[in-house]
Amino acid sequence: MTAAPEFAIAFDVPTLEAALALDQRLGRGPEYAKVGLELFTACGPEAVRALKARGRRVFLDLKLHDIPNTVRGAAASAAGLGAELLTVHATGGVAMVEAAVQGIRAAGGTTRVVAVTLLTSLDPSAMPPGFTRPFDLHAVAAALTAEAEGAGALGVVCSAADLRGVRDKLGRPFFAVTPGIRPAGADAHDQKRVATVESAVRDGASLMVLGRAVTAAGDPAQALAAAREERDRALAARA
Ligand code: C5P
Repeated sequence: MTAAPEFAIAFDVPTLEAALALDQRLGRGPEYAKVGLELFTACGPEAVRALKARGRRVFLDLKLHDIPNTVRGAAASAAGLGAELLTVHATGGVAMVEAAVQGIRAAGGTTRVVAVTLLTSLDPSAMPPGFTRPFDLHAVAAALTAEAEGAGALGVVCSAADLRGVRDKLGRPFFAVTPGIRPAGADAHDQKRVATVESAVRDGASLMVLGRAVTAAGDPAQALAAAREERDRALAARA
């Protein structure tokens, strides 16, 4: 992708108060607030409204996976909230991804759909029944990427560690949201496939998700500033 890669901060907190406190500590910036299952289940649409009222762009990470009719309605509701990005599971099928896009359009929204191809927590050697073995993760992720794009999605969620492999199979760049970003040598927590900002930028990430690397830091604003600097250095090296 030619556009400069951006950041989304994972607001993985249990209350609205904690979300607003994190927003305050981060300070103003162009980064997305990623509202995921924890915060949305606790506070619902209010979390989106409150963060938008603070000037944040919202990335609604609900990873929808249901029948097309249900996903169409949920996507329309997300569009009504003014989320800029919404996640669905590509494995829900082309009709389901299309339904999400149609629901947003019918609601008059501008939300873009991003599809999770295969959860980065899934181990290729232990895939659910029905998946072929040996399992070619990059080939399957590339096929799901092409399908999701064809259904109207902006792009996919993908481990930064898989970016190059998927791009090689697809044969072209694609819009990639990459979670599991960590400073070099930092704690991976429960993530199996982590990458630095530097390597994610080098390999073509479009939107990097910063979770605990920033939100659990003693000084989140300082950790974010360091990530921005690392991105700018990597971009300069890529140019
Ligand atoms: O704290 P950490 O950086 O591990 O947070 C990663 C964030 O990205 C979490 O909000 C998680 O839900 C999200 N995510 C992920 N892997 C995916 C899709 C989303 O870790 N495949």
